[in-house]
Amino acid sequence: MKRSGTLICSILFFYSSVLHAQKADTSDTRYRPLLHFTPKANWMNDPNGMVYYKGTYHLFYQYYPNGNVWGPMHWGHATSTNLMNWKHGPIALYPDSLGMIFSGSAVVDKNNTSGFGTKAKPPLVAIFTQHNEAARLKGTKDFQNQSIAYSLDEGKTWIKYANNPVLKSPGLVDFRDPKVAWNTAANKWIMTLAVADRIHFYSSPDLKNWTKESEFGEKAGAHGGVWECPDLFPMKHEGKEVWVLLVSLNPGGPNKGSATQYFLGDFDGKVFHPYSTETKWIDYGPDNYAGVTWSNTRDKTFFMGWMSNWSYAQVVPTTTWRSAMTLPRELRLEKTGNDLRIASWPVKSLLPILSGTAISKGMGKSPYELFSKIKPSGVPCQISLSAALHSFSLRFSNEIGEELLIGYDQQLNQYYIDRSKSGNTAFHAEFPLKAVAPRISLADTIKLSVVVDRSSVEIFADKGLTAMTALYFPSGAFTKAELISGMPFKFDAVELTYLGKR
Ligand code: FRU
Repeated sequence: MKRSGTLICSILFFYSSVLHAQKADTSDTRYRPLLHFTPKANWMNDPNGMVYYKGTYHLFYQYYPNGNVWGPMHWGHATSTNLMNWKHGPIALYPDSLGMIFSGSAVVDKNNTSGFGTKAKPPLVAIFTQHNEAARLKGTKDFQNQSIAYSLDEGKTWIKYANNPVLKSPGLVDFRDPKVAWNTAANKWIMTLAVADRIHFYSSPDLKNWTKESEFGEKAGAHGGVWECPDLFPMKHEGKEVWVLLVSLNPGGPNKGSATQYFLGDFDGKVFHPYSTETKWIDYGPDNYAGVTWSNTRDKTFFMGWMSNWSYAQVVPTTTWRSAMTLPRELRLEKTGNDLRIASWPVKSLLPILSGTAISKGMGKSPYELFSKIKPSGVPCQISLSAALHSFSLRFSNEIGEELLIGYDQQLNQYYIDRSKSGNTAFHAEFPLKAVAPRISLADTIKLSVVVDRSSVEIFADKGLTAMTALYFPSGAFTKAELISGMPFKFDAVELTYLGKR
């Protein structure tokens, strides 16, 4: 009873926030996602300071409150108990004389190593880059430095440390995005920092004094652009600890522009030893960038990215707000042949939100209609299918012939998202695109799950071994979904779940 009461409340809350969003303007009505986090108004980029504490997930984010393009960065703040329904909070960190508040992380300082709280009342500590634009314009090189702030009221308000910055740039221009975690081997805090084309690791006993330990990556992975927003965390595979190093790269992604690669290996408390220096991508789509994981979630790993791409983020056709986050995803390690990979899957709390269900069986002719105006349900929805290995596509379309194609190409053994005819694509030359991704799984059955929101699609193929995220901006909502395949169809039941009952 209690559980369903909570469920009804969270659905009502969800709908009321949706209704609130819909009133604002036409790009809100058309494009504001119903399943994804967006700022109430204005510009957002990277997720920052993600930390779980006392039953609450905190999401901070790069935020410019005075306009809908990138500007002097603040940290916006939202909280959630299930990673799906978010409550907006006041701005957490404002720029100051040391500069703007760029990306960074937050930790629960359980042993009060920083001395900002007490052991009984541990502080939350945020570690972030301060970017001093005036210093940059003067031609100095050390304009990106790391600062800290602490909260003694569970993240509601933040006090900046009086002796900031705690880590000054040694004269390197790209010196940013600290991700900090307690490391038991070192018995210290470890900071993973993006420094131009590589990672620097620093250690500290107290979050205030930092010592450089090592570097990684000059000759590893993809280097089409600058390395940003790293993350380092352990995961378990068959009882063994595997360290994951995430590194965002802009440009140089597999489908152009921004994307996030990862390395698997060991971290001995000082040095990262990769199993391989080959590039692997956490998501092959064009619109998942700067993603990192929540701290303090024990043996679970939850990831969220900024659902955009620096190539065109500032000109996408939304007006009162710009940018959404990806769905929160749970990460796990999966072996395919001899290859260990990260697989991602939407968090479980997506399921009760998409409560309407329709199952299609016995698909005969192509195209096969999953929903339309006559057979209603619509976007947002999740479509999950399992199919024998054969080429097929899922087509979402509207009455004026705009379409979004998601599919598998058997000859190339690739998944794809084709948004080239998906509506408004002309705002940037790199936007109309057929994005492709390799099929990583070796299984002879395809499992594909697709989550479509008003202006985004995320695909999780083969239990999340291949993930792709892409934005799209149709002139009118997609009212039809069909499966298309050369005859004969080789699908099992296709399950469609959607928001509420219509
Ligand atoms: C990544 C990034 C970070 C930086 C922030 C500035 O998208 O460029 O490296 O801290 O955005 O907003």
